[in-house]
Amino acid sequence: MLEAIAQCTLDDDAFREDATTNSLQDYIAARTGHESALLVMSGTMGNQIAIRTHLAQPPYAVLCDHRAHIISSEAGGVSAWTGATVVPVTPKNGDYLTLDDIERSAVISDNIHHCPTKLISLENTLHGIVMPLDEAQRIVDWAHSNGILVHLDGARLWEAVVYASGRYSLRDYASTFDSISVCFSKGLGAPIGSMLVGSSEFIKRARWFRQSIGGGIRQAGVISSAARVAVDEVFGRDPYGEEGKMSGSHRRARHIASLWTQRGGQLLKPVQTNMIWLDLDASEVNPSYLREVGRQKGVRLSASRIVVHYQVSDETVSRLREVFDVVLQWPQQP
Ligand SMILES: Cc1ncc(COP(=O)(O)O)c(C=O)c1O
Repeated sequence: MLEAIAQCTLDDDAFREDATTNSLQDYIAARTGHESALLVMSGTMGNQIAIRTHLAQPPYAVLCDHRAHIISSEAGGVSAWTGATVVPVTPKNGDYLTLDDIERSAVISDNIHHCPTKLISLENTLHGIVMPLDEAQRIVDWAHSNGILVHLDGARLWEAVVYASGRYSLRDYASTFDSISVCFSKGLGAPIGSMLVGSSEFIKRARWFRQSIGGGIRQAGVISSAARVAVDEVFGRDPYGEEGKMSGSHRRARHIASLWTQRGGQLLKPVQTNMIWLDLDASEVNPSYLREVGRQKGVRLSASRIVVHYQVSDETVSRLREVFDVVLQWPQQP
């Protein structure tokens, strides 16, 4: 990655002159089955620009999962940038939204008392759990037949495709939506950068909004070059993510979860991708105690969520095992 950064072009992306960035945008558009793509600085910036670009004329409402990143962790951006009513929906199955959940919550009537749903924003993976492709397709088909657009927060879509293990490709999943944002940092391990994909018309308008919030930058090659390596090496060059390093992170996450459960710890949900959710209440572990023991063993833990990426080493896992030994009092005394 450092080698790629050192070799990259340093032309001006605000004028669309940077070959490294143009090539990455074309590459990601092709791999996701969309016409066009736009480099943005973060997942938040990608989501916010996408939502701003899709919503043209109030009244409008955006429907999303009640835990979605756009509502929980983007500083109220949807309201600030668009004034939209955001409608949080709780999935009945506890894991991902289904068409049934959406139909119960969307407003498609002309009744002037209500705020019409104009955009559905889905997220995959959400908390590390995969939304199946057939459910996503059902939602998009229904939305389109009711004049509603669908954006996907695909910051962690790479993980969902790797989890699918050959049943569908990145392109199969991504091309279902009107727009998607994908991230090169997080699981892919680049230092910075995300990308928004969609139709040429959509991306043309999105470029305007990116500029308005200072997201159009000059020597973007340093970001794009690292992102390209992250995609090719960590997700993989193949359509299914089978050749990249990411599947190793998923194996490692399952291994960490098994170290926890073998010692009597409980999980909040099964591990599908790279996230492990420890049920600290059921495991009778105090979160501050977990953090403190982690600190002593040299592992920085926040609370119940552990996220694995491909650079998490054997040594980290073995320190984590020691943390689990202490907090779960393992081996148990006779
Ligand atoms: C699903 C999802 N969407 C969006 C984001 C935001 O990305 P960023 O931190 O790059 O703004 C994150 C960050 O973790 C995320 O998990």
